[in-house]
Amino acid sequence: MRIPQSLAVLTLLTLTSGACLPNSTSSTALQAALTQGGAGYVLSLCPNEVYDLSQPLAFASPDQEISTEGYPAGSARAVLRVVGGTSAVSGTRAGLDGARLRYVQVDGNRGALPPATGAAAIEMGGNNANQLIEHVRSYDARAWSCLHVAEGDLRCTNTTVQYCDVGPCGQADFGAWADGISLSCRDSAVQFNTVTDATDGGVVVFGAPGSVVRNNTIQAVTRPMLGGINLVDVVPWVPGNYTHTQVLDNAISGGFGDAASAAGALVKVGIAIGPRVWFGDKYGANVSTGGVVRGNVLRGAFSFGIAVASADSFVVADNSFAGEVAFIGDIGPNCTQGALAPHPPTALLADLATLTNVTLTPGISPTPADDFAFVNGTASALTCFIPPKAAAWPAGQGVPAVSPVDTGASQTPTSAPRTTPSNSTATASAHSTATVNSAARAIAHSNCLTIAHLLLITATLFIN
Ligand SMILES: *[C@@H]1O[C@H](CO)[C@@H](O)[C@H](O)[C@H]1NC(C)=O
Ligand SMILES: *[C@@H]1O[C@H](CO)[C@@H](O)[C@H](O)[C@H]1NC(C)=O
Ligand SMILES: *[C@@H]1O[C@H](CO)[C@@H](O)[C@H](O)[C@H]1NC(C)=O
Ligand SMILES: *[C@@H]1O[C@H](CO)[C@@H](O)[C@H](O)[C@H]1NC(C)=O
Ligand SMILES: *[C@@H]1O[C@H](CO)[C@@H](O)[C@H](O)[C@H]1NC(C)=O
Ligand SMILES: *[C@@H]1O[C@H](CO)[C@@H](O)[C@H](O)[C@H]1NC(C)=O
Ligand SMILES: *[C@@H]1O[C@H](CO)[C@@H](O)[C@H](O)[C@H]1NC(C)=O
Ligand SMILES: *[C@@H]1O[C@H](CO)[C@@H](O)[C@H](O)[C@H]1NC(C)=O
Ligand SMILES: *[C@@H]1O[C@H](CO)[C@@H](O)[C@H](O)[C@H]1NC(C)=O
Repeated sequence: MRIPQSLAVLTLLTLTSGACLPNSTSSTALQAALTQGGAGYVLSLCPNEVYDLSQPLAFASPDQEISTEGYPAGSARAVLRVVGGTSAVSGTRAGLDGARLRYVQVDGNRGALPPATGAAAIEMGGNNANQLIEHVRSYDARAWSCLHVAEGDLRCTNTTVQYCDVGPCGQADFGAWADGISLSCRDSAVQFNTVTDATDGGVVVFGAPGSVVRNNTIQAVTRPMLGGINLVDVVPWVPGNYTHTQVLDNAISGGFGDAASAAGALVKVGIAIGPRVWFGDKYGANVSTGGVVRGNVLRGAFSFGIAVASADSFVVADNSFAGEVAFIGDIGPNCTQGALAPHPPTALLADLATLTNVTLTPGISPTPADDFAFVNGTASALTCFIPPKAAAWPAGQGVPAVSPVDTGASQTPTSAPRTTPSNSTATASAHSTATVNSAARAIAHSNCLTIAHLLLITATLFIN
């Protein structure tokens, strides 16, 4: 009697371990699975299914994972779609060390739902260590960011965000912007991600001392982006603590004018360093301190490639320009007038009077004679520039704009196209919703419900 029963239990356990919870499971029941699952529980979602969430899924114990069964790539990843509030996943409560969000898609549902203030589409970090977010797609956040790793009481440490595809995030309209990835956890890594058409910062680094942001691709394809990578925030790592924060080997692309859809996809500042670059004089004498920005490659249309103002003990070196680049933008209605009127668009701008102990080396071009030098000029509130006329845009064989008032550069930025820009990146991010395989879904449903039910009955018998 005991042998067949234990065999039955083993068989059922084996079958059950792979079963995913189907999307007929309510948000409340998904949450209950996490809450009752305990440490190490894996909430397995079904491939090709869309889960409408009326509340964010909240990790409930250490080392839990939310992922799609079988870890599929691309559009087969389960979609967590926000239908209430602004957020799909929350991992910021204390006691969530080692939480993992992997191989899922998060549809913030901006568009169907209006933009709203509130939490980011994915909220991780908090007073936790060793969290992992990988192979996750996040797009159309309703609120300010597609993916936020929060600082908690400045005790967040060692979050890894990698192999994610993020965007679009936010809209071009004033104040309707959203970040791609917002990192505010120390000693963390943001690496090997692609951020396309985030409209505020592609990757915003809030101090996050000791962190590395490396080998990411950040691109404006159809929407303007205020900043590719931002190191401008005084808070919460007061005062602007970027000690040992490194921004290495990222590729940042502004738009090209060779496709009608690209018109307007200007990156205002490729890499922004120091609060003044973003906020003007709002933060007084505060500075960003202690970071390294090295080995990054910029191509396409920017107002400013790299801009540095109000910074201390930064190294900005060995960054380069590839393909066709242009530094363009018209003075917008919100640009400061008078003493703090910003310098016109240029490749590399440094507000030398506001810098202490900052190392700056020229930007490297494919042809050394064309290397860009840093220009000394006012770098204050630079996101006020607006996209120029289409004719000024870098196009495959077009004539890129040169700012006529830019007298500081050692070379004019672009006298002729250097290489034809790659247009392969334009397809990287579309609103591909998961396709439905109804047969697979039916099987998943019956497995989950029937086996779980049987297991309960058999386990009860076995115990008796
Ligand atoms: C489950 O996902 C499928 C595929 O996207 C969708 O058609 C269906 O409406 C979803 N069902 C529920 C209950 O959310
Ligand atoms: C950081 O977190 C990862 C898990 O994402 C873990 O493998 C690694 O050991 C952690 N590093 C440290 C120094 O604790
Ligand atoms: C990161 O980018 C740099 C520069 O392009 C490259 O040399 C390096 O191999 C990349 N690292 C990885 C792990 O891909
Ligand atoms: C900045 O961060 C570094 C590294 O974590 C730390 O040692 C230092 O005390 C911090 N500085 C301030 C002013 O908080
Ligand atoms: C830094 O910014 C904070 C917040 O705006 C402000 O209270 C403080 O006075 C500023 N510090 C300096 C040195 O300007
Ligand atoms: C200058 O900056 C470097 C980092 O680039 C740092 O190691 C050094 O301590 C700084 N010196 C001073 C006097 O702050
Ligand atoms: C200028 O700022 C105001 C808000 O102060 C905003 O409504 C307007 O859209 C901005 N204009 C541009 C071109 O950004
Ligand atoms: C940088 O330009 C400012 C005026 O914008 C000037 O006062 C300052 O002397 C210049 N610094 C250097 C090192 O040329
Ligand atoms: C750019 O697009 C054109 C037309 O769609 C195509 O023929 C060409 O192969 C593309 N180039 C690259 C580098 O993808």
